[in-house]
Amino acid sequence: MAYTVPNLTDYSAAALEKAAGECVAVCAGEAAQVRNDPELKSFRDRWMARKNGILTQINDLWLKGAPKDAKREAGIRVNELKARITELVEGAQVGGDGDSLAVERVDISLPGVRRPIGAEHPVMQTWREIVSVFQKLGYSVAEGPVVETDYYNFEALNFPPNHPARDTQDTLFIAGQQSKPQRERLLLRTHTSPVQIRTMEKMRPPIRIVIPGTVHRNDPPDASHSPMFHQIEGLAVDTNITFGDLKGTLDHAMKALFGSSVKTHFRPSFFPFTEPSAELYVTCFICGGSGKRGPDDAPCRPCKQTGWIEVLGCGMVDPNVFEFVKDNGYDPKKVSGFAFGMGVDRLALLKYGVDDIQLFFQGDVRFLQQFG
Ligand code: PHE
Repeated sequence: MAYTVPNLTDYSAAALEKAAGECVAVCAGEAAQVRNDPELKSFRDRWMARKNGILTQINDLWLKGAPKDAKREAGIRVNELKARITELVEGAQVGGDGDSLAVERVDISLPGVRRPIGAEHPVMQTWREIVSVFQKLGYSVAEGPVVETDYYNFEALNFPPNHPARDTQDTLFIAGQQSKPQRERLLLRTHTSPVQIRTMEKMRPPIRIVIPGTVHRNDPPDASHSPMFHQIEGLAVDTNITFGDLKGTLDHAMKALFGSSVKTHFRPSFFPFTEPSAELYVTCFICGGSGKRGPDDAPCRPCKQTGWIEVLGCGMVDPNVFEFVKDNGYDPKKVSGFAFGMGVDRLALLKYGVDDIQLFFQGDVRFLQQFG
């Protein structure tokens, strides 16, 4: 801070220019070195204070002290200088370079603020893809409530009163329902099958519907279980529907979803609402059905070395189920049908080669970004 305003003896344009230039250089240098607010304040006072600030001194020494014939010229120079100094002082910032132009500078070559475009969640992508495969076969889409009664979730689907699936081990019941008759008690539906009944109550046969939706089970989360997951149910009822129709439809759907080289395989199973019942397996698309992986024949984990992966449960609608909706045209002596239910999340795992279902529900952008 060694600057003191020099006395001028020479008022020539060149001398004024030189003195003003030095003054501006000192001011700009000081402006660039302001490190904190107190320094900013004393910098401003030093240059601008009315009483004895540098600008006032310049006014007194250079303007008032100028000989008469140099006054005009000096006036113009000093005004220019004042404007320049004022600009520097006002533009000075803590840590800045004191140049108001620098402060206001906009670098138009910098990238703008990015607003990333969202992407459909992999489970929803799979959901939509499965639905569209069936829509192309003439199926329509039905939906039903996630909070369901015991009647639709179990009773009308032919679950005997003490069936283990009704157990609190599997089912999440809504609290405080003890005073209601069992069939009216509310629970989180454990599958999308209750919408079979709800739809048959509303629509007379023939019907072909798919029912996508969220379901819940009292399963602790791990790599292959989640207390909340998604299913897509299918139901076709007409005269003369056979197990052959079921096989052909599902074989087509699996090829449409996983590629035409996929093979399907039905194994006997049991569900209270279908008879006969089956589980559908497809060839493992990780190992291609060999049960082994990679050049060193490592055991294939997703199919547990069997070469087959279970993807859904299915069967012919049990006549006992039709009895519940008989009055709406579903006389088990006249109509027959098939039903199936697949886990969307499970199919999404297989489709995208993901090995932990939890990744779908943790909302980690680094994971989800890969499906954008
Ligand atoms: N609802 C059964 C389940 O969740 C699947 C299924 C649907 C089986 C339709 C047969 C027919 O496991």
